[in-house]
Amino acid sequence: MKHLKAEEYIEGINKLRAEKNAIILAHYYQTSDIQDIADFVGDSLALSQKAASNEADIILFAGVKFMAETAKILAPDKKILLPDINAGCSLADSCREEDFKKFIDDNPGRTVVTYVNTTAEIKALSDIICTSSNAIQIVESLPEKEKIIFAPDRNLGNYVLNKTGRDIIVWNGACHVHEEFSLEAILKLKNEYTDAKLIVHPECELPVRMVADYIGSTSSLLKYSKTDSAKIYIIATEVGIIHQMQKENPDKKFIPAPPKDSTCGCSECNFMKLISLEKIYNCLKTEAPEIDLDSEIIIKARKPIIRMMEISKKLGL
Ligand code: 13P
Ligand code: SF4
Repeated sequence: MKHLKAEEYIEGINKLRAEKNAIILAHYYQTSDIQDIADFVGDSLALSQKAASNEADIILFAGVKFMAETAKILAPDKKILLPDINAGCSLADSCREEDFKKFIDDNPGRTVVTYVNTTAEIKALSDIICTSSNAIQIVESLPEKEKIIFAPDRNLGNYVLNKTGRDIIVWNGACHVHEEFSLEAILKLKNEYTDAKLIVHPECELPVRMVADYIGSTSSLLKYSKTDSAKIYIIATEVGIIHQMQKENPDKKFIPAPPKDSTCGCSECNFMKLISLEKIYNCLKTEAPEIDLDSEIIIKARKPIIRMMEISKKLGL
């Protein structure tokens, strides 16, 4: 197949999205060229909110599968496209339906709070969903006596447990990107840039969180980098977020926190990076791959997501 130049793909994408009344929603971990052509760029919570309220007939999701599935659950009548169906998530993969059912059965009487980074089937087994933007507030919205299961991220789960002091048992899952940061290399950078602030996603391991100046979701890290007065930041989350940080703060310096092992010296989510301009163009053209979910799963998974969205709305999140 003949490959086109980036500008040609962008021209084609613009034509197709206008013709088909399609919008492109992109996560902050996408490459900068994709973030720049998206109709909307955001974190998991904002992307869900946008998927639930827009006038498009087609939503093309520049992100990973659990995000596109969430869009399908919230907008079942729309066509939801994911340019590469293999764009999964190691965290979602760490929580399989059969194992999770057993875990819930083995721990009866607990409210199941599930992070959005899960398959639709896991959401369907949950009482309420959260994202990293609202996990603490969602847990705190539950009655104090309520015992909780938190899944699937062990780092976010333990972070929420420590912040809220609630009775929480945490599923033992993790993200391969956020668990890869090297504490040793981060401390070395902190030594070298003594004025730098270390800002960290809560999916990172405890030793990295312990030396952080600030912990937050992608949108919260972005907001912090804008409102805080420091000039240099070390960023411990997927490197794609730096594009927006740099765009919004051209005078500040953003250094990716180094992982234990990588060729680029930064942390990339290989699933997020499966999406490209070429794949977006082909996907809009052929309207495939499309996300298709069982209608029963949609009904069951919708309830806990809507519950999260209502609480977030009430709290102004
Ligand atoms: P946010 O909810 O902060 O966008 O994070 C999503 C994610 O995949 C983190 O790895
Ligand atoms: Fe999943 Fe981690 Fe990639 Fe986020 S960075 S999409 S949690 S694998």
